[in-house]
Amino acid sequence: MANKILVTGGAGYIGSHTSIVLQEAGFEVHIIDNLSNSDAAVMDRIAEITGKIPGFTQLDLCNSEDLHAFFDKHPDIAGVIHFAAHKSVNESSTYPLKYYHNNLTGTINLLQAMQRANCHNLVFSSSCTVYGQPDQLPVSEDAPLKKAFSPYGNTKRMCEEIIHDQAEADSLQAVALRYFNPIGAHHSARIGELPVGIPNNLVPYLTQTAAGKRDSLKVFGQDYDTHDGTGIRDYIHVVDLAEAHLKAISRLLEQKNKEAFEVFNLGTGTGYSVLDIIKTFEKVSGVRVTHEITDRRAGDIEKVWADPAKANRELGWKARFGLDDMLRSAWAWEQSLASRNDS
Ligand code: NAD
Ligand code: WQD
Repeated sequence: MANKILVTGGAGYIGSHTSIVLQEAGFEVHIIDNLSNSDAAVMDRIAEITGKIPGFTQLDLCNSEDLHAFFDKHPDIAGVIHFAAHKSVNESSTYPLKYYHNNLTGTINLLQAMQRANCHNLVFSSSCTVYGQPDQLPVSEDAPLKKAFSPYGNTKRMCEEIIHDQAEADSLQAVALRYFNPIGAHHSARIGELPVGIPNNLVPYLTQTAAGKRDSLKVFGQDYDTHDGTGIRDYIHVVDLAEAHLKAISRLLEQKNKEAFEVFNLGTGTGYSVLDIIKTFEKVSGVRVTHEITDRRAGDIEKVWADPAKANRELGWKARFGLDDMLRSAWAWEQSLASRNDS
């Protein structure tokens, strides 16, 4: 079977973990990334872990000429996993056009380049944000999509629709993976999430607070209709997520997909509150996390967790890691960053 996979955005958080899993499964990986939110040094980290350096081309998906030239030079790409996008919910509300331009243009350019190159297999990074606050929990793939709370969330829904339309119209075969809340890091602590500036997401903020980089973690609201009043999410280990991408691209390459466009939830099926996360982190790390309750954050939903049954059944994938593992690995990664900064 042809085995060269193009990973767009592969220098980033989820793409780098996925590239490792692909290489370990025997695939040849070529990463393209414009390094707008990542560092080329991650290629060396991947090589340290897998013993093989992935192919890498610094390229912006918004530049269609470069993309066509790339596919001309690599006519043997069997499938594409498309991570490249801007992902900050906050920033997208301040600079909506930056998000619509990058995430939509990048995706359309990629689809055009794939069509021209006769490359038909695509896995796309989507998000549970497309469900908004679901009417029923756990949320399954056939739940109605709701208006997104942010331009970022809108780009995920719009890209899904663009990919779906193209799969109906042409020979494209595509899988959209709707991630719930990815956290944690590779067990080697050589790669992980690298938030630029002050983190928006809970776990990087928490680990930075535990490491003494931040004074206090703000818990956004304790008046939600949940067991302890704080917001509930379905946190998933990034390595579990990476393994689901291997299953999804293999399904396409082996032509086992049932429709030209398929959607899968990637979550554990269990929701945890913000206070559950803090308590579990304190238990596994032995470090106290200074925190305070503040007002709700604008745009936050109350609670969401996945029904992952379709991914379990169709992809033959199930999340393996529990919350203890997720938070232990996030803490090991934070500590490894601290020791790098000290040296
Ligand atoms: P990340 O920022 O770490 O990785 C994205 C990578 O894409 C970065 O390396 C960035 O430099 C690159 N990139 C961005 N625009 C590009 C362009 N125009 N051309 C080439 N490269 C470009 O983000 P991540 O957390 O790894 O997320 C990967 C994907 O998963 C994104 O599509 C994101 O929207 C989606 N997603 C992430 C989460 C999450 O919580 N991390 C949740 C749901 C969905
Ligand atoms: C989790 C919980 C917060 C920070 C976002 C995107 C979503 C997806 C994942 C890409 C919530 C609370 C947080 C803090 C807190 N990304 N919190 N204090 O908002 O579920 O999802 O990232 O697709 O689209 O919206 O993740 O980690 O920001 O928040 O109390 O400092 O932690 O209110 O309940 P979120 P998060």
